[in-house]
Amino acid sequence: MKHLEEYVISIPDFPEPGIIFRDVTGILQDPDGLQLAVNQLQDFLKDTEFDVVVGPESRGFIFGVPVAYNLKKSFVPVRKKGKLPRKTISESYALEYGSAEIEIHEDAIKPGQKVVIIDDLMATGGTTEAIIRLISRLGGEVVKACFVMELAGLNGREKLKGCPVDSAIIYEGK
Ligand code: PRP
Ligand code: MG
Repeated sequence: MKHLEEYVISIPDFPEPGIIFRDVTGILQDPDGLQLAVNQLQDFLKDTEFDVVVGPESRGFIFGVPVAYNLKKSFVPVRKKGKLPRKTISESYALEYGSAEIEIHEDAIKPGQKVVIIDDLMATGGTTEAIIRLISRLGGEVVKACFVMELAGLNGREKLKGCPVDSAIIYEGK
């Protein structure tokens, strides 16, 4: 079996010149790649006590649900604005150009629940930071964030104020 990083397809100059796009679909489209990624995320959690996996739309759903299912936890989606049908709370975060808003159902996390965030990628950390604010407003506690890939050159960890982070593949650049 290959190493997990060998399944990532790196696309130079996408979506703009100078950026290397790390395409996670290369992992998903191979059964061994998918096994390796989900198993690694689960392994990061073997000593962590928690109640809920939270994953952000859309690529966070892909990895969050199998981990929650296998570890017999619940899964709570964080969605882009306007998609969740019941009462929500929302947070905005900065993008390279402009900003984005994400939402969570206000009854999705109970006070005192311990939450793990799972996503495919940490880049700037903006998405994860906004999720941490959502969870904290609902009285939950984010005990760990796990990623398939991390772009360490963007210093996302610094934004997360002591939240433990584990990433299966760490790229030194941006
Ligand atoms: C991508 C990626 C992460 C986020 C990382 O999602 O899947 O969720 O960006 O970036 P950050 O650390 O700088 O916040 P995107 O919002 O592009 O949407 P998608 O998952 O629906 O493709
Ligand atoms: Mg995403």
